[in-house]
Amino acid sequence: MKPALAFLLMLGGAANAADPAGVAPVSGYEFMEPATRQLQDDDFLNPAFFLLEQGRALWDQPWPDGQGGARSCRSCHGDPETGMTGVAARYPAFDAESGRMINLELKLSREVADRLGAPAPAYESDALLALTALVALQSRSLPMAIDVDARVQDWVDRGRKMFETRRGQLNLSCKSCHEDNWGQKLRGDTISQGHINAFPIFRLTWDEVGSRHRMFSWCMDSIRSEPYPFGSDEYLALETYLAVRGQGLLIEAPGVRR
Ligand code: HEC
Ligand code: HEC
Repeated sequence: MKPALAFLLMLGGAANAADPAGVAPVSGYEFMEPATRQLQDDDFLNPAFFLLEQGRALWDQPWPDGQGGARSCRSCHGDPETGMTGVAARYPAFDAESGRMINLELKLSREVADRLGAPAPAYESDALLALTALVALQSRSLPMAIDVDARVQDWVDRGRKMFETRRGQLNLSCKSCHEDNWGQKLRGDTISQGHINAFPIFRLTWDEVGSRHRMFSWCMDSIRSEPYPFGSDEYLALETYLAVRGQGLLIEAPGVRR
């Protein structure tokens, strides 16, 4: 039997009776083995925390301000613990400047470029993951709560459509796994509801930290569908929809997943 077919049959099994659309969302944490949860529970064991050191160094790093002085994130925002409280919980947000959604990674990259005049860190670079983890940590235990106005709603609708559209050689949608089959086993993973409250995460199978968009690409790859670029409108729409779908879930960043 073709592996793809075996895979489909497996997912064709008992569909999930409880559709999360009607019930309170459940964090991916609840689907992890106890040993993986322990890594997230203890900041000293959490392997994502080494990146936070780098994040703090970048936060304090002075850049010439063009007038003989220097400036850093700290010079405008103070301590991340006070200046960035609750910020990550509000992203993605509508960005009037570009007329599109902006997520935390893109916002941070722009802060580096525009306010410090330093080279913008690339998506998924250690520098950007480190800054994202540092800022997201300041929203830990706060509920995800993005602001949805009519402009944002367009992106939510578009994201929902993407979430529900079957794609790839396996002809599965995000919904096929994360809404219709959560709780089922898939190649050593227990399929969760596919929430984004723990990102950036240290993924043990990656052996490194990754962003929400990297996770989307991993899932697209797993159904043999061509991934979109990190930071693309497609992923921003998905991210916006998932933020609304998981509204109220407590932020766990930086999380640990299998
Ligand atoms: C074939 C099943 C499958 C499909 C289809 C799928 N995923 Fe996943 N996804 C997984 C598995 C397995 C994991 C890892 C275990 C887990 O957390 O669910 C995962 C993890 C995730 C996570 C991380 C959850 C967490 O708590 O860390 C997100 C977010 C996610 N997927 C989003 C998506 C999106 C968006 C799509 C559609 C583009 C999608 N997935 C399609 C199987 C799938
Ligand atoms: C010259 C002052 C200045 C510097 C330097 C600066 N910022 Fe900002 N930053 C601002 C101002 C003003 C805002 C509010 C307006 C906006 O959102 O663009 C802001 C907004 C932000 C936001 C969004 C806050 C929100 O509530 O949405 C983040 C995140 C952020 N900065 C991070 C950083 C980081 C990280 C650095 C260093 C790489 C940095 N900033 C450097 C002035 C600065």
